[in-house]
Amino acid sequence: MKRKDYSIVGKPFAREDALDKVLGKPVFTADMIPPDAIFAAVVRSARPHAKILRLNLQAALSTPGVIRFIDGGQVPGINNIGTLVRDKPLFCQDIVRSIGDPIGAILAESRDAAEEGARQVGVEYEDLPAIFSPLDALDPKSVQIHPNGNICRHLKIRKGDVERGFRESDVIVENEYTTQMQEHAQLEPETAFALPPDQNGIITTVGPWQDTFDVQDAVALVLGKKSNEIRALQAQTGGAFGSRCNEIANELGALVCLSACITGKPTAIIMSREESVISHSKRHPFHMKYKTGVKRDGTLVAEEIQLICDTGSYASAGPAVVMRAIVHCTGPYVVPNVKADSYCVYTNNPYAGSFRGFGCPQVHFAAESQMNYLAEALSMDPIVLRRKNLLRPGSQTNTGHVLGKSVGLDECLSKVVDALSSIDIPPPEKGRVRGVGVAIGYHGNSLGPEGGDRCGALISIDAAGRVEYMTGLAEYGTGARFAHGQIIAETLGISMNRIHALLPDSLRAPYSGPTVASRSTMMGGNAVLLASQKLRNVLSQEAAIIFDCKPEEVKFSNDTIYCENRVQSIKFEELASISHKKGICLSDSSMYEAPKGEWNEETGLGVAYVDYTFGAIGTVVDVNLQTGYPQVVRVVGAFDCGKVINPLGVIGQVEGAIVQGLGYSVMEEVCTKNGLILNPNLADYFLYTSAETPQIDTILVEGYPSSSGPFGAKAMGEPPIDIVAPAVAQAIYNATGVRVKDLPAVPEKILLSKTKSGLKHII
Ligand code: MOS
Repeated sequence: MKRKDYSIVGKPFAREDALDKVLGKPVFTADMIPPDAIFAAVVRSARPHAKILRLNLQAALSTPGVIRFIDGGQVPGINNIGTLVRDKPLFCQDIVRSIGDPIGAILAESRDAAEEGARQVGVEYEDLPAIFSPLDALDPKSVQIHPNGNICRHLKIRKGDVERGFRESDVIVENEYTTQMQEHAQLEPETAFALPPDQNGIITTVGPWQDTFDVQDAVALVLGKKSNEIRALQAQTGGAFGSRCNEIANELGALVCLSACITGKPTAIIMSREESVISHSKRHPFHMKYKTGVKRDGTLVAEEIQLICDTGSYASAGPAVVMRAIVHCTGPYVVPNVKADSYCVYTNNPYAGSFRGFGCPQVHFAAESQMNYLAEALSMDPIVLRRKNLLRPGSQTNTGHVLGKSVGLDECLSKVVDALSSIDIPPPEKGRVRGVGVAIGYHGNSLGPEGGDRCGALISIDAAGRVEYMTGLAEYGTGARFAHGQIIAETLGISMNRIHALLPDSLRAPYSGPTVASRSTMMGGNAVLLASQKLRNVLSQEAAIIFDCKPEEVKFSNDTIYCENRVQSIKFEELASISHKKGICLSDSSMYEAPKGEWNEETGLGVAYVDYTFGAIGTVVDVNLQTGYPQVVRVVGAFDCGKVINPLGVIGQVEGAIVQGLGYSVMEEVCTKNGLILNPNLADYFLYTSAETPQIDTILVEGYPSSSGPFGAKAMGEPPIDIVAPAVAQAIYNATGVRVKDLPAVPEKILLSKTKSGLKHII
């Protein structure tokens, strides 16, 4: 294929908001709360599973500044904010299913008064038997947490004949793995406010939402209003990673809108860090059983897999997480015979939901660890074993999807292996042992078969040649909107400083779906590409009249429009101005619809995702023999990203995902006891910080353009986080002989393990 040269796409542009962010200038939701706003504070359950017998409001209502109490009794519409499954009340009325469940809210003149009032609300409970292990929840005799039982969703893959496959295998390896609950720890805690109905009856709510359309619809249901009576605006957003979507966003929006309607006053809520941790969903903990059969030469033959995903008290994104998990459960390999079962299970633990990676980090940890066990059983180099089985162009995935040409996995692995062999770092300090580990992975792009995957864009050029655009996609730090800007600039041949993105407004933006699943650059990029091509056609017509040439001869570059065969040219802003004066409309919209896969939910076979991002990560880890602490001293990642729109943007996503993945690998864990979060703050919840973060070398592999992304781009927000933990675990093993099968690989697990290399003895 002929390489096309682009002037803007593929070039490194610093994000337009970078300096402002560093200087603390952006205006966040809490900065915009109207001065006459009242505040809400949520009364939350202190019990993991209980009947609510009665509320004692006397002390709360006599707290200075308190205005009133609201609960489910005041909800005019449907008292439920569940998204995929309508199982989560805005305010629990009869039963609470986890600690932190909202029961009601105190409205008060100040935030302090509201919080004090909420603390004063007495709740009388009658405790019900509670379940904290998803394995117990699967027992049909155990207490049923929701009316339809404890299994929220069960998905399967049935491909080939695993029994025959195991009979034909020379070596079979069986293992169990677990992964932990992870907290998003986005910097800005949950905040929102709402304005009472305006003269047109429209209620406005502002917050750091990932999906303004979802908030709009959820608020309308709760208030018993039409969706177009609710306007949800996204404010500047201090991080998300999945914590800003689904129920928590709906809870915040519905709460402040309900209060604004009842009291006629603007209403705000600002949560503390602790309440933030308690109230939003977490990364699903998984229990995973893997049985893998392989030929003596290393060829994978059969795999039997059971995934049990603890979604906690409510479904949230769980049903979709188990779907993504089962599709990726074997890792990026050709496995002819697969029997897999994936269960999304209710417990009385805090609820789990969307989190960057969405089921993929869990299954990649198990699948890649399995490959390392197999390599050892076969006395084979794990890299050689991977090369023998990995997905290539034309390979069939575990769901029977025959891939096209866009598979750069082998090249990613080679690039990482080469980079690791040429790394020059000083030897480990005394008392530390070093190991190297490699993992590979894949990540289905965008929403997949359950999608309805569409994204719209609005675009307009004013008389001075300034371009403004809006999609319904949120910007919460990924920088996708700057990639959108580059796509518009490339198409119109203009410079980046002419382009301005507007944050989403659910009443103005065309439907764009949620800002999740690494879909912003692909989906929004296609939407703005279509919209800007329309305006380019209009401008070509106008320029052709001026130049007296054919519209096809009109070219756009360097802020200039010219006719390719003649010397005539006109500046972009001049053409915009002339067109406006003539009454030519320079505004348009588009709706991009992604190609749809065909995936059979019964067999688990078919095309689950049209495109996959592939990648490999290598880690170098020094384990301290005194403390057991695994210090990651270098990470190398290579990713088949299709086509790079902005290298700085992609590298930012890779580095961010790897740092979050390193925390997941060696320290992050939301600890619970009987459903209570023991570390709901950033002092006791250990996050990976810049102090621990090693040099990360990112290699971007192009040359395998996706069939559907703009300019061939693939999704890059999540894929790197999927494969950090297995690479780190393998490095720890190579350093110490300790196999960590239960994340995170905290020092005590490494120290307390019996190892073949006698680590215990060294200590
Ligand atoms: Mo996400 S975890 O797809 O917001």
